Amino acid sequence: MAANPPDDVEPEPPLWEQIAAQNRQLPGGERLQKVLASTGWGSRRVCEDLIAEGRVTVNGEVAVLGRRVDAEHDLIEVDGAPVGVRPGLVYYLLNKPAGVVTTAKDTHGRTTVVDLVPGEPRVFPVGRLDADTEGLLLLTNDGDITHRITHPSHGVEKEYLVHVKGRVTPGELRRLREGVELDDGLTAPADASQPSPGIIRLTIHEGRNRQVRRMCDAIGHPVLRLVRTRVGPITDRSLRPGDWRELSTGERRSLTEAVAEQARRYDADS
Ligand code: URA
Repeated sequence: MAANPPDDVEPEPPLWEQIAAQNRQLPGGERLQKVLASTGWGSRRVCEDLIAEGRVTVNGEVAVLGRRVDAEHDLIEVDGAPVGVRPGLVYYLLNKPAGVVTTAKDTHGRTTVVDLVPGEPRVFPVGRLDADTEGLLLLTNDGDITHRITHPSHGVEKEYLVHVKGRVTPGELRRLREGVELDDGLTAPADASQPSPGIIRLTIHEGRNRQVRRMCDAIGHPVLRLVRTRVGPITDRSLRPGDWRELSTGERRSLTEAVAEQARRYDADS
């Protein structure tokens, strides 16, 4: 027969009450297992097991299953190691100025995007911007996300502001939206608008070589200036040309989610 607990020891509240109490503290948060999964700790199932095993703490307290968190502000740790960054992985957002080349090392001695960010740990550009193109470029040592962001058919959206020669007609904008025949095939449907005459906002998710320039050439409006303003969910209007910053935990998560969403859509369509 099980021994009765001593009278002076407060019985622990049932697990469901503990969960409810934690949820009350953070009604707007996200489920801990979802946050863990999106930062690379494994599937949600694996992350639930980590929590159930008592290996995860939130602000120093052992978390229970069902716990909600605010990933930007709560300190989440697995086995005492902070979560958010898989050990050793760094993610930079650079505002690339015109004239800087997107290679790890330039044989002609020109400044490269890698010269503009910290040298250690060594990072690589995520995709490529032409030397003349300006704007947002991610650099990381996370090869997995690089591969998924730049996937030729289900990479994340990239948005550009394009100054072109001349004013674009509604029919030409429609061609950009519906697909333009290039020498390597028809482009996928894109978003295109003209917020002011000769300025196009173009959103594509393919990553073909010089794609925006070639699309604009194809409709008879050569590019005068090309600026990338968004990569997936990542944007920053206040980052000055030549400056860089690290992605926040929230940005890294939303990027991971955008990549997963894009792959799901692609799988559903094919
Ligand atoms: N499309 C281009 O034509 N150039 C770039 O640098 C990026 C997209």
